[in-house]
Amino acid sequence: MIVTTKDLFKLAYGKYAVGAYNINNMEQCMGLFRGCVDSKAPFIIQLSKGARDYTHKLMLEAIVKAAEQIFPEAVFAVHLDHGDEKTCIDCINSGFYSSVMIDASHESFEENVRITKLVTELAHAKGIAVEAELGQLGGVEEHVSVDEAHAKLTNPDDVKRFVDATGVDALACAIGTSHGAFKFTGTQGLRFDVLAQIQAKVPGFPLVMHGSSSVPQDEVARINAAGGNMKGAKGVDADQFAKAAELGVTKINIDTDGRLVWCRVHREMFRDKPEVFDLRPPGKIFMTEYAKFIAAKNVKLGSAGKLDEVRAALSKKSGCGCSCGCK
Ligand code: G3H
Ligand code: 13P
Ligand code: ZN
Repeated sequence: MIVTTKDLFKLAYGKYAVGAYNINNMEQCMGLFRGCVDSKAPFIIQLSKGARDYTHKLMLEAIVKAAEQIFPEAVFAVHLDHGDEKTCIDCINSGFYSSVMIDASHESFEENVRITKLVTELAHAKGIAVEAELGQLGGVEEHVSVDEAHAKLTNPDDVKRFVDATGVDALACAIGTSHGAFKFTGTQGLRFDVLAQIQAKVPGFPLVMHGSSSVPQDEVARINAAGGNMKGAKGVDADQFAKAAELGVTKINIDTDGRLVWCRVHREMFRDKPEVFDLRPPGKIFMTEYAKFIAAKNVKLGSAGKLDEVRAALSKKSGCGCSCGCK
């Protein structure tokens, strides 16, 4: 059952975070649905501009539609991750997306407001929610001076002004995380002090944490032992998700960790079985391993076990006509 991102946020706010997972292909999609159904968690499936262009946007959307039929018990929202204005408009008009992210965070505050407001008006006219970003995610490095490092974080004093001026439904905040497998080169960690200040400015408003892969060290070690070179890779401590959720983070974005699972499975398979040239054996292992990873991650997010109550709340609201047995 595809639901609105806004409804998922309302049910989760202050209690748990919904996992927002990026997919690029069928294997990731199958592992994601299996892992979320097994752990009984609602989720957000994220399609990035790069993912939509990897094969074809219609191919990616068709994979998600097929998964919806294969897993009728799944409850999820479909979200465009890091969209520009053109991609947001395409997704809004497609009728398939629950929400879009307009990422104009690299622009000036005024320009970010202008672009975000424009996208939000178009999206809301079609009942689609919008996430925007304020501040700039990226490597907050130890060698960067405190002032410079601070300049990249979301300024709590800008938040209310931005939310009021744009009408957005959720805000991605830069609180010390960065995308990819090399976060926190030194002792840097999540800036809960900044997050608490942001929440105080917009109480009850859904916040989003990007760059939240944990980059598990056992995964990195296995990749390196199988010929990889990911020395120094490091991520967010997943035990901090619960505190972030209490402080208003309702959506936590995870992509890199899924790529690590893919990388480890394929490297180990081709190292240990050099005779294998078929794509299906590693693909099968990946789907199973990714499902296990997702289920474990949903436990850390606090979303595991919430599926029945979320389905009940949302199907009552929408008069769900699906075949998921929710009536
Ligand atoms: O934040 C970016 C996501 O990890 C998506 O990555 O643009 O390579 O698909 P991508
Ligand atoms: P990671 O690179 O930490 O997985 O972050 C993903 C993300 O923020 C997608 O928008
Ligand atoms: Zn992101």
